[in-house]
Amino acid sequence: MTVTVDKNVEEFTTTARQLFIDGQWVPAASGKTFQTPDPATGETLAHVAEGDAEDIDRAVRAARKAFDDGPWGRITPSERGKIIWRIGDLILEHADELAQLESLDNGKPFAAARAGDIPASADLFHYMAGWATKIEGNTINISAPYLPGANFHTYTLREPVGVVGQIIPWNFPLMMAAWKLGPALTTGNTVVLKPAEQTPLTALRLAELIAEAGVPDGVVNVVTGFGETAGAALAAHDLVDKIAFTGSTEVGRLIVQAATGNLKRVSLELGGKSPNIVFNDASPQAVEGAANAIFFNHGQNCVAGSRLFVQQDRFDEVVEGVARIASSIRLGPGLDEDTEMGPLVSDEQLRRVTGYLESGKNEGATAVSGGGRHGDKGYFVQPTVLTNTRPEMKVVREEIFGPVVVAAPFQSLDEIAAIANDTPYGLGAGIWTQDISKAHALAKKIRAGTVWINCYNVTDAAQPFGGFKQSGWGREMGHEVLEAYTEVKAVTAQL
Ligand code: NAI
Ligand code: MG
Repeated sequence: MTVTVDKNVEEFTTTARQLFIDGQWVPAASGKTFQTPDPATGETLAHVAEGDAEDIDRAVRAARKAFDDGPWGRITPSERGKIIWRIGDLILEHADELAQLESLDNGKPFAAARAGDIPASADLFHYMAGWATKIEGNTINISAPYLPGANFHTYTLREPVGVVGQIIPWNFPLMMAAWKLGPALTTGNTVVLKPAEQTPLTALRLAELIAEAGVPDGVVNVVTGFGETAGAALAAHDLVDKIAFTGSTEVGRLIVQAATGNLKRVSLELGGKSPNIVFNDASPQAVEGAANAIFFNHGQNCVAGSRLFVQQDRFDEVVEGVARIASSIRLGPGLDEDTEMGPLVSDEQLRRVTGYLESGKNEGATAVSGGGRHGDKGYFVQPTVLTNTRPEMKVVREEIFGPVVVAAPFQSLDEIAAIANDTPYGLGAGIWTQDISKAHALAKKIRAGTVWINCYNVTDAAQPFGGFKQSGWGREMGHEVLEAYTEVKAVTAQL
């Protein structure tokens, strides 16, 4: 059975989509468009305006004006919070439609988007809406010892950074837009959002909902286009005060370089190669947990548990269990109700992931399950478990970003932290044991932004998310993200 497509989705995919600048839908200045394919077939799904530097400039100027003169900074925090809350409500009202668009554009199963991405995106706006009225500074008793006898009143203000450029990836398209827009808006910034060229559709639908919720013109602008042109222009623009990026570590470095011109603020959420550690005393759920840690979202997940370490006594059992689950996963188009795993997002990712599989096998790794492409149409890859790897292999060191886990045995608690930390990344980690003291002791030693104990891939609007080491700068979500979207001003008055 195939999910019946909503009429709004049909319209969205049959008429070319435009850019959203200053509250208007406009074509790219160049008049160019590009196509986004259906990853289950490789055929054209929709046409979208191809924004470039000129469109980015128009959008940035609109955001600048909305920030400097517009109503956004003048409306009350309470009103701002209500508008942001309405965005969450509208996402829920259109949940089926958004999940269908996401499934068609990204390839993920409709059911996964409907149960996960869409409600999580709504929840993010609802959570962030509450912060609008709670952005506070401090009062401080200063001493100024070099001015004996003087008396001061000092306080701090937390103000929006200004115009924020946001560049997001294709793995959770709507959710990444929500993670970026929610905190930027609640703190009073204005935004130019550049969605990934592989998955522009839900961000464009979200822009319509944002306008419907009452966000004033120019506060949120969405420019679709390619990274090297639109993305690079946004990162380098002098009227942009901050850039927030999620994507590859390689492009993260380019963003940092582009930001040096006006020294704009930068926050980065980059790659990972997260360890998932199963001890001898782990509960039987660890097997399914380890499979879910890597295969969720087809492994296209920055925190994917892509390095599985199993303590010696349980190694064969856990690896066989994960491989059995891998072999039983039903692959198919996202809108097919029987599908458990869809295609990868693009031909480029298909080639990248199968390239890693070839490299692993050439270097001597064994594919206990999977090991290659699935079928010959669309961008499907078999869920794969690799064993007999060595720490220096590319498949062990580099982010694959597909349904591929490397599994290796370990001996003891003493050695596992060093093994787990032997990576340039530090985004996530999993620990499976019934010994709570062991779990918490190890959690302290892991150099990563999120550690899960007896669970994996649990994220929440209230829980900070981000990376140590080369996995990024700053945190998203939780109250921590508010710091990334505000400047602190100290005001001192002599009394
Ligand atoms: P990417 O980093 O090139 O793309 C992410 C976003 O950055 C997209 O919106 C893209 O248009 C934009 N971009 C690309 N080049 C840019 C530039 N020079 N200046 C400004 N923006 C630019 O990632 P890509 O090529 O899609 O995937 C490559 C690898 O990156 C994946 O295999 C995976 O390992 C990693 N990745 C990590 C993600 C994460 O969540 N941390 C998400 C997506 C990819
Ligand atoms: Mg790229």
